[in-house]
Order: sequence, then structure tokens, then C-alpha cells
Amino acid sequence: MVIGIIGVGHLAASVLSGLLRAGVDPASILLSPRGQARTLSERWGIPLAADNNDLVSRTDIVLLSVRPVDAPSAIAALPWRTGQTLVSFCAGVAVSRLEAGPADVARAMPLTAAAINASPTACFPASGPAVALLEKLGPIIPLASEEEFEVATVNAAVYGWAQDLIRQSADWATAHGGNAQTMRRLAALTFVAAGRLIAETDRPMGTLIGELVTPGGITELGLDILAKEGQPQAWQAACGAVLTRLSGHATA
Ligand SMILES: NC(=O)c1ccc[n+]([C@@H]2O[C@H](COP(=O)([O-])OP(=O)(O)OC[C@H]3O[C@@H](n4cnc5c(N)ncnc54)[C@H](OP(=O)(O)O)[C@@H]3O)[C@@H](O)[C@H]2O)c1
Repeated sequence: MVIGIIGVGHLAASVLSGLLRAGVDPASILLSPRGQARTLSERWGIPLAADNNDLVSRTDIVLLSVRPVDAPSAIAALPWRTGQTLVSFCAGVAVSRLEAGPADVARAMPLTAAAINASPTACFPASGPAVALLEKLGPIIPLASEEEFEVATVNAAVYGWAQDLIRQSADWATAHGGNAQTMRRLAALTFVAAGRLIAETDRPMGTLIGELVTPGGITELGLDILAKEGQPQAWQAACGAVLTRLSGHATA
């Protein structure tokens, strides 16, 4: 199976790194010759297509990783064929706006942790060659409808916010006398631990958190302050704003 990538920017570089780490043969990949394509081609020995037309005619599955506004035009009037799959990573761009003729179209939302094969990748529909390829980048999160996929796409922004919380925690601890590298590692692995414990059990999240909140203890103290300062409302508002932006892309 030959894999094509149209839109070789930040996300595609992470995806490429993860595919190579997973053992995909560089010779089975073809890059559209823009963005970071020439640099990555030289670094990893991945062939370049002459243009997007050439790429689509020579590949079985095409990953679309251009900016959302560029998505419809990037794939228009290309030689799509039956049996081929287009997988769009473009946030907020509905399948109905991706004209790929007789090719199957799927949407997916990998995170840059794809580079280390640790991306929980939302996918709709979650079937066929798209899943077989994307599961090399981390666990697949199948969505039941495109509406649900859109809601799940907000998580791509939450990923960045989580990294910012890690940075804030590490910076605070460093400013209060901790070693910068030690505090960075501790904060990052604490978030990994918090996520893994929830992901790897079916116990209700309220129960898991309740077990941490000793009356009069430090977790309760902090949660009370975060609530009084409006953190829950701010978080919900940020999620809502992202979904509104995504819905705007879908119809733009
Ligand atoms: N970054 C993330 O973490 C992330 C996560 C999930 C989803 N996404 C989605 O992934 C997509 C890409 O994001 P990004 O951050 O990687 O963007 P990016 O760094 O700006 O990369 C986009 C690339 O697309 C290229 N491009 C534009 N039009 C093209 C065309 N017609 N043919 C071939 N290449 C074309 C651009 O090349 P030039 O430089 O030559 O213009 C650029 O290199 C977005 O739709 C975003 O919603 C991103």
C-alpha cells in the first residue's frame, strides 16, 4: 500500500515520524512537494511526488494535512479512483466539502504525540485502510457520526491546553526552588498518570476523583480555589468557543 501526504507541515511531520517509528518503509510513502516536504524527504529518504495530481495517481491512501481553509481546493480535480481512501486531518472541514470522486473519505484527528506513537486518534468512519494505517500512531477512538467527530475534535485543542497546564505547573515549581528538568518531568508524568488511571479503568470518574479529595486536604483546597476563581466555567467556555469555530469551518 502506497501512502500519500498532501500538506507536509507541522502535523504531517509528526505523523511521518510515527509511521517510520512503526516500521513503515519510507519507499512506500509519497510526499506532496510543498512545506517541509523537501527537508523531510532528504532526512528520511521519502520520495517526492511531482505534484498533487501525480501523488493521487500513484497512491492507495492519501492523508490530507493542509490548513482547513485550503482543504477543498487542495484535493479538487485530482484523479481519485474507486478503492482509494482519502483521510482528512483538517479540523472542521465536513466530508461533504471534500470532493474526492469515487474514493472513500474518512476524517481523523491525530495529535502531535503521533510522533511517539501515542496519539489517541479520533476517527470517523473508523473502518478499513484508514484505521489500519492510523492505529500505527496510537489508539484509535472511533466516533459514531460526523457530529460526534466534530465534538471530539475539540479534544485536539484540549491537548494543547493540557500541555500548557503542565508548563504552568513546572514553571511554578521551578520558580519556588525546584530543579527545572526535575519539575518538568514530574509535572508531565503526573498528567500521564492521571490520564492513564482514568483510561485504564471503568470506575466512574467522580469516584476516582472523590477518593483523592480528603476533607480538609490539599486537593480539596485547590479545587475550591479553582472553582471560586471560575476555572470550570472558563474551561467550558473555551470548549464551546472551539466547537463554534469548528462549526464555522464546516459551512465556510
Ligand atoms: N498541528 C496540529 O497539532 C494538528 C492537530 C490535529 C489536526 N490538525 C489539522 O492538520 C492540518 C494541518 O495543520 P498544521 O498545523 O500541520 O498546518 P501547517 O504546518 O500550516 O501545514 C500545512 C501545509 O500544507 C501545505 N499546503 C497548503 N496547500 C497545499 C496544497 N494545495 N498542496 C500541497 N500542500 C499544501 C502548506 O505548504 P506551504 O507552506 O507551501 O503553504 C503547509 O506546509 C490542519 O487542517 C489542522 O486542522 C493539526
